[in-house]
Amino acid sequence: MPGHKLGMGIPAEFLKEIEKLDLTEISGTDNLHNPTGAIKEAQELAASAFGARRSFFLVNGSTVGLHASIMAICRPGQRLIVGRDCHRAVINGMLLAGVTPVYILPEYSENFNLNTGITAAAVGKALETAPDAAGVLITRPNYYGVCSNIEEIADVVHAYGKPLAVDEAHGAHLAFSPRLPASALEAGADICVQSAHKTLPAFTQGAYLHIGSDRIDEERLWYFLDMLQTTSPSYVIMTYLDIAREIMQKNGETLLGRLLDSIEACCARMAASGIRVLGTDDVPGFGFDTTRITANMSGLGMTGYHAENLLREKYNIQVEMSDLYNIVCISTVADDAVRISRLFDSLLGLKKVCGYGVKPSEIVYRGLTLPDSVAEPSGIINALPDRIALENAAGRISREIISPYPPGMALVCPGEKFTAETVDYLVHIRQCGGIVHGIDENGNVVVV
Ligand SMILES: Cc1ncc(COP(=O)(O)O)c(C=O)c1O
Repeated sequence: MPGHKLGMGIPAEFLKEIEKLDLTEISGTDNLHNPTGAIKEAQELAASAFGARRSFFLVNGSTVGLHASIMAICRPGQRLIVGRDCHRAVINGMLLAGVTPVYILPEYSENFNLNTGITAAAVGKALETAPDAAGVLITRPNYYGVCSNIEEIADVVHAYGKPLAVDEAHGAHLAFSPRLPASALEAGADICVQSAHKTLPAFTQGAYLHIGSDRIDEERLWYFLDMLQTTSPSYVIMTYLDIAREIMQKNGETLLGRLLDSIEACCARMAASGIRVLGTDDVPGFGFDTTRITANMSGLGMTGYHAENLLREKYNIQVEMSDLYNIVCISTVADDAVRISRLFDSLLGLKKVCGYGVKPSEIVYRGLTLPDSVAEPSGIINALPDRIALENAAGRISREIISPYPPGMALVCPGEKFTAETVDYLVHIRQCGGIVHGIDENGNVVVV
């Protein structure tokens, strides 16, 4: 990220005199909070390109769209069924909205040591146990590119008369290629957010919020969106949201086709390398976004963290994220065949330094679990905080979201107890070079 890759995905004529785009609400520039002119037109063009009933530009990323969506779907005190592999923006949104989560665990691939997707059966079970929930929120694709089956999930959720929200932060490009899984809207989601800045040639913080059906109260959604977005929205961000839409609408299928061809050709070269690149066949029952390059490093005896460092130091390549086992690279229409090939050449080069780093066998992680929730998350916000060493946190209730970042999936949420296993695992991640949000530079966490 960002998906324009230092401007390579944006035609040069659109990159001149960017400072002259930095405007405010004056005659002729329209107003994000009351769009009647250029912004209204650009949002309508986005709605038609992405197949939405209505689309909104977001200037604070998918984060603000998730907050507004949660507030629109739920009343304070209600429950929301949420995939536990959600981003911290979802958890914070529920805290702000006074909403209590009912979490569903994603499936887990022992083979790649990563979370895969949420099944329709798991969603059905959650709805059976929490029929009062206001709706369901699923993250898809996940950071690794795995796509839960939204068609099946939407059928289950709609049978209960509830809305399905999809955090499609990583999937703004899906609508533009038949070679990729269907977008959330195509698959029946009622509302979704997309971080254009992640997978389209758009600027950081630029995102879309799309409404897909009348199960969403548009008036209520707009009420919260208007409340939450800045009154000084960046015209630079909004302009590139429009440009990204135009690029993808006109050329997206061709550009994505070329990108997918070059990735496929490179994947074929990895066969005997010891590095396994995640593909559709590795996640049976789920879809897979094949623009996402997720490579498992266990066969080389090194952690993803170590591979990330080597790629940066030796090959001048910055991956999107790493975990104990894998690295994840986001490729977009801004990446040409030469850049993709250079990435795979560099991965093959890592073989020369294999055996360096933490051996996968030393690692105990077996996927997300659900800690006991001991306090209403919203009650936690006002509790008196206490800062203690992570090593002493077992049995204490967290005030913060504790999440290795990226991908930002929570291991402990506000109101949940640290378990001894979670503490050991977090210590291990930090020893291996991972960064964990919610643990300060002195290794302390905040408990109540
Ligand atoms: C799954 C997911 N949802 C939401 C977000 C937040 O998106 P943004 O940074 O556009 O606010 C992220 C960011 O990494 C994410 O990975």
